[in-house]
Amino acid sequence: MAMGSNFNEYTQVAPVSYGNGAVAEIASKVKRFGAQKVILVFDGGVKASGMADRVAKLLEDGDLTVALFDDVKSDPTDAQVEAIGEIAVKEGAELVIGLGGGSVLDAAKMVGIYIKNPAPLRPHMLSNGLNPPLPIAPVILLPTTSGTGSEVSCVAVVSHDEDHVKDAIFANCAFVILDPELTVSAPPHVTAFAGLDALAHALESYTSASASPMTMLLATHAISLVVQNLRKAYDNGQDIDARSKLAFASNIAGMSFNDTGLHFGHTFGHELGGIFGLPHGMASSYAIPAVIKFTAKHDPERAQGIADAFGVATAEDARTAALSLMHDLGVRKFSDNNISVEAAQALAEDAIAHNVFFHNTVVPLSVDDFKDIIADIVVGFDEYTG
Ligand SMILES: [Fe+2]
Repeated sequence: MAMGSNFNEYTQVAPVSYGNGAVAEIASKVKRFGAQKVILVFDGGVKASGMADRVAKLLEDGDLTVALFDDVKSDPTDAQVEAIGEIAVKEGAELVIGLGGGSVLDAAKMVGIYIKNPAPLRPHMLSNGLNPPLPIAPVILLPTTSGTGSEVSCVAVVSHDEDHVKDAIFANCAFVILDPELTVSAPPHVTAFAGLDALAHALESYTSASASPMTMLLATHAISLVVQNLRKAYDNGQDIDARSKLAFASNIAGMSFNDTGLHFGHTFGHELGGIFGLPHGMASSYAIPAVIKFTAKHDPERAQGIADAFGVATAEDARTAALSLMHDLGVRKFSDNNISVEAAQALAEDAIAHNVFFHNTVVPLSVDDFKDIIADIVVGFDEYTG
């Protein structure tokens, strides 16, 4: 997540095996890393879908020994991750497999770190400075939602138990299995918020001060794929063509923002979601229209790129299309969340303090600028949705 200095550097965190049915090869992928004992980490939703049983059977049929952890919490805390890590160490796991959405994927990466460094992880987190990455056991990630891009990010995000503040630690996985069939059971609201999260990643990355020709290529294509396919997957979860395109969009948006960082949209979304208990994807989507408007004002060329990716004439048209998409996909009005303009603006200082990437915009933003943008986000969305 370099910021401001990577115009000539772009990264591919791990190899990705992409395609319908790719999960069938999981045992052979594990063997690439010489591992015999693995821990498969997932959550209650993935367990209920039957996917975890299927993956465990594929591993056992490949003569691997599998330990299971079936209860990763949403926004896992460091205490929970260390508890899973203890189980992994006790079971002698040499490799970690994460099967799930962003919380599970990030937890799996941190378990990989814990196996090699069984001690409290907090001293190594980004809130304590840019520590070099710790050694990590091989981690294979299988996303079951299309949104977070965690599988191709160089960090894992964790919430601290004592204060619920989000923190992160450098952690690359070793291999990704991006099988769109694993996303088919995601319910409509999960599909919607994950897809909007991917759109927010792509837009903030595309408009980042650190964007490069490579990241812009990835981000604009991701925007187009989300705009063309998210409603289809929301309306019909079995639409495997739409699911495939969203899985790819989420993945390349993740690659893009892993290089560029995000900016004020996720600064707002992280703090809003944390304080008011909103799902990450919904909270992070609120700023999408504001990111487009801000770009139209300060960087018309890039704003036209957004319009082109949306398949519309102007940035204003793209902003309207984004509002329409958010409305149709069930993003709640601020008033329905009992969040006033003043309450949202009151988050500004802490949001900036907790999200260093805030400063990653094409022109610098002051706290007052940010508060004006927040007011526009709240009023703009609630007025549009009537
Ligand atoms: Fe996000």
